[in-house]
Amino acid sequence: MQSLNGRVALVTGAGRGIGRAIALSLARHGADLAINFASNEQAAGEVAEKVRAMGRKAELFKCNIADDAAVHAMGEAIKKVYPNIDILVNNAGITRDKSFLKMNHSEWDEVVAVNLKGPVQMTHLFLPQMVEKGWGRIINITSVIGQMGNFGQANYAAAKGGLDAFTKTIAKEVARKGVTANCVAPGFIRTDMTAQVSEKALEHIKSITPMGRMGEAEEIAEVVAFLASPAASFVTGQEIGANGGLYM
Ligand code: NAI
Repeated sequence: MQSLNGRVALVTGAGRGIGRAIALSLARHGADLAINFASNEQAAGEVAEKVRAMGRKAELFKCNIADDAAVHAMGEAIKKVYPNIDILVNNAGITRDKSFLKMNHSEWDEVVAVNLKGPVQMTHLFLPQMVEKGWGRIINITSVIGQMGNFGQANYAAAKGGLDAFTKTIAKEVARKGVTANCVAPGFIRTDMTAQVSEKALEHIKSITPMGRMGEAEEIAEVVAFLASPAASFVTGQEIGANGGLYM
């Protein structure tokens, strides 16, 4: 359980949902935490308290990951507290659903900025120190939607599919430097994000999911913890689905 002892993990959007579960799981496995949040400092603070209660370090870093200057400033602030980030989990994401025929440029740009450009910027910031240290883990949270496509989610599917392609390329570029890069692609998980989806649509999703249910944030977090652990030392460039069988 303590396989991440001495490692420092940065999780974006860690104040709630899947990011919160990932932060807590990595702490349980022994990592210290850099907790990024966009606006709700209280929720992020509660995650930090739980991490500290496990005997791990936890610091908060407020930043909109879609804002290049803010990401750069956060990188500087993090380096003052944690000289090295060993595990980067790009979890923060948003949806702005609309059929493509009705989608405007700003709905496209906003989703691509958070779900694709954000992780790219974060990777650009922290990959060099991982390569220098000769050990690192990049773990990107994509989506089953990037694999399957979905009505009303052209922006989101393109961003997540792009993130997977980016991850595979990074994985090849740093494979001999001790750094792995992988994605976890959740199916439909019970969080605030899916709370926006209508009951009727959720019932349909459950009916087409072989396991017949939605997933829990913790079921994604444990896959992330595996990818971060020494047990996954030969795993790179993969997109691991955790979707109840919805996409195989
Ligand atoms: P959520 O909406 O509950 O949490 C998203 C978190 O990201 C929030 O804490 C939010 O404040 C943060 N965030 C959003 N924009 C940000 C920004 N610009 N800068 C910094 N933080 C920002 O969503 P959930 O479900 O926990 O999603 C987490 C990740 O999992 C996302 O990347 C999402 O696309 C992905 N995912 C979720 C699925 C689901 O069914 N819930 C399915 C597949 C993928």
